[in-house]
Amino acid sequence: MAFPEKFITELTERSDIVDVVSSYVRLTKRSGSNQFGLCPFHSEKTPSFSVSADKQIYHCFGCGKGGGVISFIMDVENLSFPEAVEFLAKRAGMQMPEEEHSGESKKKAKLLALNKDAARFFYEQLGTPAGSAAVEYMIRRGISPPVAKRFGLGFAPDSWDLLRSAMRQKGYSDFDMFDAGLVKRGKNGGFYDAFRKRLMFPIIDVRGNVIGFSGRILGDGEPKYLNSPETLVFNKSRNLFALNLAKKSKSGYIILSEGNIDVVALHQAGFDSAVASLGTSLTPEQARLISRYTDQVIIAYDNDGAGIKASQRAIGILEKLDIKVKVLRLSGAKDPDEFIKLKGPEAFRKLLEGSEHQLDYRLKNIADKYDLSLDEQKLDFLREASDLAARIPDAVKRQVYSMRIASMSGVKEEVISADVERRHKKLMNAAKRTEQRQEVQPERLIQPAARQLHYDDPESAAAEEGLIRLLYLEHELVKKPGLPDKEDFSSTALANIYSALRAGLEKGEHVTVDTMAASLEKDEISLLVSILQKPEILKRSEQSLRDYIDKIKDKKALRSGKPDLNALQKQLQKTKGYGR
Ligand code: GTP
Ligand code: MN
Repeated sequence: MAFPEKFITELTERSDIVDVVSSYVRLTKRSGSNQFGLCPFHSEKTPSFSVSADKQIYHCFGCGKGGGVISFIMDVENLSFPEAVEFLAKRAGMQMPEEEHSGESKKKAKLLALNKDAARFFYEQLGTPAGSAAVEYMIRRGISPPVAKRFGLGFAPDSWDLLRSAMRQKGYSDFDMFDAGLVKRGKNGGFYDAFRKRLMFPIIDVRGNVIGFSGRILGDGEPKYLNSPETLVFNKSRNLFALNLAKKSKSGYIILSEGNIDVVALHQAGFDSAVASLGTSLTPEQARLISRYTDQVIIAYDNDGAGIKASQRAIGILEKLDIKVKVLRLSGAKDPDEFIKLKGPEAFRKLLEGSEHQLDYRLKNIADKYDLSLDEQKLDFLREASDLAARIPDAVKRQVYSMRIASMSGVKEEVISADVERRHKKLMNAAKRTEQRQEVQPERLIQPAARQLHYDDPESAAAEEGLIRLLYLEHELVKKPGLPDKEDFSSTALANIYSALRAGLEKGEHVTVDTMAASLEKDEISLLVSILQKPEILKRSEQSLRDYIDKIKDKKALRSGKPDLNALQKQLQKTKGYGR
């Protein structure tokens, strides 16, 4: 896939980055031609997300993300490059270049159509004699017909090719079905249905597309669930079961549970904001997805060791996004489904309303570890609980929790409170010291913000960055002789940026962050933008170019153990005054 350069240029000209960003981020501060707001990609309290109208780029000084308008849409809408282009084209009222409807997006559309037809097929099986097994199972689990319909539940028949032949009749090929994860390939090369004799849960994304399936065995047996594999349209760490329904809920919060059956039971009992992660523990991507719809999550995981552990992990992930988290304690039942069956929806609602704030939950968990009637253990409890309270930024809340710790332990409130405050001050001071240390470490400063990128040779990397910045700002310099090869670079990310930039310039294209986003990874685009933020003096650009090139080649020679004679000679000329 390649869009004509002219198309991308026109698209970015018609998609002013300030306009586009403004529909996602409230830009509240201005400094020069830069506007600032709260970064949509990490949680923060003071704005460090900047948008430059002049340069048509965004850059977050906090998390390091950056790019042009296309990268912004890719990140914020979770889209691929061609999809983001399509998104912006629609917004700008531009016709997509016909043949440029990317192969990939055509294939995606086909897989989605196939999944939808497959879901309809599974649903129709419920009405057949063979489907009665699934209907009976649903009756046994207490799933009512209207709820089954709302979720589009269905039945995969006990057959090797009923789905396959039905879909072939509709014009889909075995390869389409294979790519959608609906059929598997046997040893003899033939294809057969992947889901057999299972209750089928279609997984539907927030746009209403059927992206995959989860199939539960009818009754006991292994594996209990069979899920679609990762496909072009299905990424299980980026989607949540039933979010398509939960996003319409008026409740103001999302209930996060573990099982598909739990979600169905919750919706049936009137809790229409329940979702589940797809057989994995909550991922940061899923948390971000949730944060688009709500700022409050109630965790209702299974009432067992694994569930408690998973809750703790989920709390950490959600809190990073400033989501308020509460945790339900399902006493007397193993999961929400069983709880509602045993005690009824009203009992569950009471639990929801009184559901513990995550701090209470953690406090109780700490208390549960110790026997508070023993002095020794009480001290351990106090130490751990006070440390937890000391981490609360809000002074009033710290006070409230000190009071609670006091009443749990029987120690005087003033004593606890003083201890909590002392610990709080200590933590604040430690944080301040780390911040200062970071400021005076130049080695740290030059490292890229994205944690997965690291410069092994910071001095060379600085020159590599300089060279990239210079070429980006003065396209003509690409014609100068002696430019280094990509292999001379010390950093792979910088080498990739460099070769993409050079390739575009040598073709005489109008190169921008946006055109480069087609061929670079997101991290690389962010890195490029952060490089462009650093100052470059263009007055003596040719001299700077030479200096950067020398440094890069020098360092390369040192790394490979073979001193570059040319460079050495130059060094000598400079230091000893030889030549010239
Ligand atoms: P019930 O036990 O019938 O109430 O089902 P459940 O939907 O509540 O499932 P459970 O609590 O056992 O598991 C929670 C989730 O983990 C399920 O909804 C699945 O997404 C996933 N899961 C469970 N068993 C398997 C399995 O064998 N394979 C895979 N891939 N995922 C599973
Ligand atoms: Mn369960």
